[in-house]
Amino acid sequence: MRFFIDSADVNEVRELAKSGLVDGVTTNPSLIAKEIARASGEDSVEDSGGGIHRRIGELCALLDGPVSAEVVATDFSEMYKEGKSLSKIAKNVAVKVPLTESGLRCCHALSLEGIDVNVTLCFSSAQALLAAKSGARFVSPFIGRLDDIGHDGLQLIEEILELYSHYTFRTEVLVASVRSIGHVVASARMGAPIATLPPKIFRALYKHPLTDSGLEAFLSDWRESKQSIL
Ligand code: E4P
Repeated sequence: MRFFIDSADVNEVRELAKSGLVDGVTTNPSLIAKEIARASGEDSVEDSGGGIHRRIGELCALLDGPVSAEVVATDFSEMYKEGKSLSKIAKNVAVKVPLTESGLRCCHALSLEGIDVNVTLCFSSAQALLAAKSGARFVSPFIGRLDDIGHDGLQLIEEILELYSHYTFRTEVLVASVRSIGHVVASARMGAPIATLPPKIFRALYKHPLTDSGLEAFLSDWRESKQSIL
C-alpha cells in the first residue's frame, strides 16, 4: 500500500518524507487555508492564489510522487482553467476536482490531455464508477466522513475495489478521510492501493505499547549488565 500524507504543512511533510515511506501528498482547500493562516499567524485568510501555488510547488519539490492540488471553482470552464494552471506548477501535480457533473467533465477534459486527476468527495460506488469512466487517475472515497454519519466507510472501499476489479480502469482507489490505524489496516487487507493519512495517523502506525516497554526492558538490562561488568 502506498501512503500519501494528507497535509499542506510543508515542514511536516518534509519531516515525514525522511522516513522513505511517503509516496505522495494530498491537500484540499481547508488544509491550504489552515496552513496559510497558521503561517501568517492570523485566524482567517485572504489569498489570491499565489500562496496556494507556492505551497503546492514546495510540496512537489519534496518528493517525486503525486501532490494533489484542488480547484475551488465550481463551474466547468473556471474549473478547467484552474486545473490547467495548477497542473503547470510541477510535473507531479495531480489536479483534484470534486465529484460533481462539472468536476467529472473537467476530469475527462484534463485526463484526455494527459493530466492526472484525483476525483474527491466520493461517497458512493455509483460516483466511483463515473469517476473511473471519466478517466480519473485517482478516486478519493471519504471513509471517515461516512462513518461520522453512521454509514460504513470501509464497506464503500470494498464495494469500489470489487467493482473496479471487473474492468480495466486506470483509476486507483485512494482511501481518504482516514481516522484510525484500523482504517489503514482494513483498507490494506482489502488490497486498496493507496491511503492518504493525516500526519498523526501516519506516526501512530509505528506505535505499540509492547514495543516501548520491551525496548525499555532491553536497555535497562543492558545498562545493568554493563555496570556489573565494570
Ligand atoms: C483527502 O484528499 C482529503 O483531504 C481528506 O482525506 C479529508 O479528510 P477529513 O474528512 O478528515 O477532512
